[in-house]
Amino acid sequence: MGRTLKIHGMLDPHVHLRGMEWSHKGTFASETEAALAGGYWAVLDMPNTLPSTVDRPSLDRKLSEIGTQAVCDWGVYFGAAKNGNWDQYNGILDDVCGLKIYNNATTGNLLIDDQAIREEHYQHWTAKKPIAVHAEEETVLDILALVRKYRRRTHFCHISTAKELEYLRAAKEERLPITLGVTPHHLFLTEDDLPALGSLGLMKPTLKRAYDRAMLWKAIGDGVVDVIESDHAPHTLEEKSSANPPYGVPGLQTTLPLMITAVSNPNWMSPAPWAHVKAMLSTNPRRIFGVQAPPETYTVVDVDDEFVIDKQWLRGAWSPFEGMRVRGRVREVWIRGVKVFDGENVLVKPGFGHNLFGKTA
Ligand code: NCD
Ligand code: ZN
Ligand code: ZN
Repeated sequence: MGRTLKIHGMLDPHVHLRGMEWSHKGTFASETEAALAGGYWAVLDMPNTLPSTVDRPSLDRKLSEIGTQAVCDWGVYFGAAKNGNWDQYNGILDDVCGLKIYNNATTGNLLIDDQAIREEHYQHWTAKKPIAVHAEEETVLDILALVRKYRRRTHFCHISTAKELEYLRAAKEERLPITLGVTPHHLFLTEDDLPALGSLGLMKPTLKRAYDRAMLWKAIGDGVVDVIESDHAPHTLEEKSSANPPYGVPGLQTTLPLMITAVSNPNWMSPAPWAHVKAMLSTNPRRIFGVQAPPETYTVVDVDDEFVIDKQWLRGAWSPFEGMRVRGRVREVWIRGVKVFDGENVLVKPGFGHNLFGKTA
């Protein structure tokens, strides 16, 4: 074994676990197993599932299915609906990690492009829990106007362009209550990879130019980026190779090795200090969502172990990073004093995971 690092309570605040009517893409069991294999203690599940998490019955169905299947700890988002579902808020606040608003088109049917409806959601949502937004380019400005007016803590998901960073840097200087996340695919891939990747390189936001990617790394170096989020969004290879491929790529298993690879390579664009990368994977997301890691909850990763991301290591899944040489192998994951992953196998049964929010927490 090479040099090892210990990371406490890794939390990915942006995953799409599938399950329910999309169980052919993945289940709450299979995707939380991918989370453990990726070194994560906990994940927060987005609401653009089938059914969408937009009312009490759909939330109850998700809570019950994820509760019986999850092997890591978890939380779920409530989804803002375009027909105005704020009348549901009072009844669900205790059971969710936050609200998600989709302001640009992507997977699912939760797009809200009417600023007046977005504003109603901002008006009705609680000050106690954050709002996460999918907002690209100029839409970032529309959301910032609402943050300025209603002062609701807002997390900007998967920021991918230099322009968006410019807007959000200015908003941070203005002291608006905002945070932002970036994904490994926007940090490691660009549109130049699209010919080789084909539809496996299709996701929202799309892959951008090398200049945008360089600005993302610069923002990490400057401490402007708060969170590395995988935006884990599995689809089957059959769906991805169809005439109308859906957007999204899996990422839970590859995020930690990719970040360790970047940090340990002095030739990489921006060798961010390890302490900062670790914060973006654990303490920062925990602070944003107001959760504490339980005692004896950590990941041991061998930072000297180099390997190629291939189908066998991916446990049957696919990845846009297949063929890439990385370093950083997860050796052990512990949750609440229980060894849950030994580097090869998940050691706990479905249902081991706790809800970090709500009655069952
Ligand atoms: C996500 C999905 O498939 O659920 N797709 C994606 O391309 N990232 C939705 C999203 O995060 O926008
Ligand atoms: Zn999104
Ligand atoms: Zn997403």
